Amino acid sequence: MSDIRGRFSKDAAAQVNDYTASVPYDRRLYRQDIIGSLAHTRMLERGGVLTADEAQLILGGLIAVGEEIARGTFEWRIELEDVHMNIEAALEDKIGQLAGKLHTGRSRNDQVATDLRLWVKEAVTDTISAVRGLQAALLEQASANRQLVTAGYTHLQPGQPVLLAHHLLAYFEMLERDVSRFGDASRRADVLPLGSGALAGVPYSLDREYLAAELGFAAASANSMDAVSDRDFVIDYAAAAAVCMMHVSRLSEEIVLWSSAEFGFVEVDDAYATGSSLMPQKKNPDVAELARGRTGRVYGHLMGLLTLLKGLPLSYNRDLQEDKEALFDSADTLVSTLRVMAGMVRTLRFNQANLARAVTRGYLLATDVADYLVAKGLPFREAHVAVAKLVQRAVSRGKGLEELKLKDYREFSELFEQDVFEIDVKKSLAARDVTGGTAPRRVAQALARAKRILTKAAREATAKG
Ligand code: ARG
Repeated sequence: MSDIRGRFSKDAAAQVNDYTASVPYDRRLYRQDIIGSLAHTRMLERGGVLTADEAQLILGGLIAVGEEIARGTFEWRIELEDVHMNIEAALEDKIGQLAGKLHTGRSRNDQVATDLRLWVKEAVTDTISAVRGLQAALLEQASANRQLVTAGYTHLQPGQPVLLAHHLLAYFEMLERDVSRFGDASRRADVLPLGSGALAGVPYSLDREYLAAELGFAAASANSMDAVSDRDFVIDYAAAAAVCMMHVSRLSEEIVLWSSAEFGFVEVDDAYATGSSLMPQKKNPDVAELARGRTGRVYGHLMGLLTLLKGLPLSYNRDLQEDKEALFDSADTLVSTLRVMAGMVRTLRFNQANLARAVTRGYLLATDVADYLVAKGLPFREAHVAVAKLVQRAVSRGKGLEELKLKDYREFSELFEQDVFEIDVKKSLAARDVTGGTAPRRVAQALARAKRILTKAAREATAKG
């Protein structure tokens, strides 16, 4: 069996076998392939296509093949093209001709689509758990350093004082959206193609709803031609992975900046840093740099997949075999990046003095001074002009705003009084007491909320097993 060359008069050229084979990478689908075949066998028995004895033999054979693969003693054969044919051939070695009945009402087209959907659903579970790990590391740091204040930036210029925890929790939010995107990818993958045959459906009365339930799918696909050629769920995963890598890359960039001598906000733990082969003094944030760098590769996979699909007529085309390496590498790259980043973030040491110093430079309280004038009745735009001039004065004298005299202030607005000197970082923070603001009270609530999210997620993950 496994001979699908019945209509040909000669074997494929060796180089064609090599060129078309997918087994070097699709063997990763072996568990899903066996699970799919087990369910298919039980359904063929229910439908009277296989006797109970035949089904038993096939099921036992499939399980034995699966064990061999798991043990690493299985001999993969490149000339058998892919994971599906390798497993079927091995089944025949074990149980003889009967193995040929397994492929009743099935094509590799609906088979591979089924395997891949099962794989994506599992990958989403792993991915979300890795995202949760990085969120937990960020939350740990935010909680442990909840009293630290630093400069918040726009245009990479110091803008306003913020709590460090507020800054770190911004990444928690990004990752929360990633969890939601991966959930969408999983829901989109949660449709069973098996029973679509090569493209038109199968002439056996297969109970596809039963099969869907057996394999843990929410539904059976509604159109066989779409089912064998749809890879939207792969693109959904790759797109979610690209966005998630973008978030991790932004965090990486901050760590690269923050650990530089110029910022000195944070020290990367020795376990997550590397040295230079030439400059003995160096301690480099290579993990963050590589995470930033690997983002490009995950973007590349997304673009590759979109391009792969764009010109395909219905239904299955062999081009689709090219979906796998892009998908697998997107998942591998993302999950390993999330895991190592979680370790690095958890061991970061923040430098309180340098963070605090950033707040004293760059006139971070200028907005608060403008808001002070607004509170006294000046329209904000006018207050902005007055304070901008005041800052210009301070800059020209090489002083901070708090070092100017009241009479300097009053040159720019009569509304300034002695109490303008009461403006400080603490008041600036506390004033931003809106939902999502950096007021310590709000940040404490945000920390509690983040903790609730992770606790609930952990509970759900254990419930799912
Ligand atoms: N290895 C193939 C793939 O990944 C399996 C399906 C092959 N189907 C076919 N008719 N040649 O797409």
